[in-house]
Amino acid sequence: MSTAGENLDVDALVAEIGQIAGAAVEAAGSATTQADLDAVRTSVYGRKSRLSELRRAMGTAPPEAKPVLGRAISAANSRVDAALAARAADLAGAAEAAQLERERIDVTLPGRRAPLGRRHPVTKVIQDFEDLFVGMGYRVVEGPEAETDWHNFEALNIPKGHPARSMWDTLYLSGTAGVGTTETDVLLRTHTSPVQIRVMQAEPPPLYIIAPGRTFRRDTLDRTHSPIFHQVEGLAVDRDLTFGDLAGTLEWFCHELFGPGFDIRLHPDYFPFTEPSAGIEVWWGDRWLEIAGCGMVDPNVFVAVGIDPEEWQGFAFGFGVERIAMLRYGIDDIRLFYENDQRFLEQFT
Ligand code: PHE
Repeated sequence: MSTAGENLDVDALVAEIGQIAGAAVEAAGSATTQADLDAVRTSVYGRKSRLSELRRAMGTAPPEAKPVLGRAISAANSRVDAALAARAADLAGAAEAAQLERERIDVTLPGRRAPLGRRHPVTKVIQDFEDLFVGMGYRVVEGPEAETDWHNFEALNIPKGHPARSMWDTLYLSGTAGVGTTETDVLLRTHTSPVQIRVMQAEPPPLYIIAPGRTFRRDTLDRTHSPIFHQVEGLAVDRDLTFGDLAGTLEWFCHELFGPGFDIRLHPDYFPFTEPSAGIEVWWGDRWLEIAGCGMVDPNVFVAVGIDPEEWQGFAFGFGVERIAMLRYGIDDIRLFYENDQRFLEQFT
């Protein structure tokens, strides 16, 4: 081995150690991965490396050569360690920068806006009813959509077999379909008037309520008919109520709802549960359009719910919500309300 023996060339070995260190520093400087750095480290410090061989050979070197070689080796170690550490730090910094770039969040990008829903035109009309009548001291109440024959008909002065039943094409859920004697037949309410009955049974007068809700009739869906539609019922029960109170209330309400320019009129009509009865029409461009039925509560209805008709009077009305929404928004096909086409619904801001 060239390191052993008498004629050991110490200067040449020191120079070689310096070259090994220089080469390793250069290799470390151009490493691009941690694996490259590990390879450099092994090539310098590995058991079979030239530097390890020299370190082992120092044991047999002459005493005066030992410190010289020792210093050269440890200087080489320091240079290589420093270069490896510096490059490792560079690589770590670059990796972190790359990760930051990958995970960068652009806070200047506008967020994704959740689409804001709108109230359905039928809902808007119902809410206008509620606002206007609550302002006059009425309460908003609700009743069941599946009703008994008694609430929907009998108590409203429409006994079984009465010809007036044909005014409402009824969807029965159980029972004898309006011809037998069972008072517990269940049907889908054909109007909101049974809510009048429920309220009068539950509470003593005076009463001022409106009852919006869904109603059902055995109608075929077309431009102007739907088997499911909405009504808003109204009922006032008090002492000394007259037809003038009914007319005044409805006139004020229609002007609030449609604007003061619209004329309304009442014409004689027939409902089994009001006497006298009337229909409410609004003048719409070139003709009168019916939007509600109304009248003074029939004494037979008061008797059915245990209210003394000598002491109390009342008036009632029932508006068709879709009809009003169609007039107000210029819609000529009732089916549009139920198709949930966003292009239609988005128009009502
Ligand atoms: N319930 C009636 C209908 O559906 C409307 C109405 C309500 C008439 C209240 C008079 C009083 O046609």
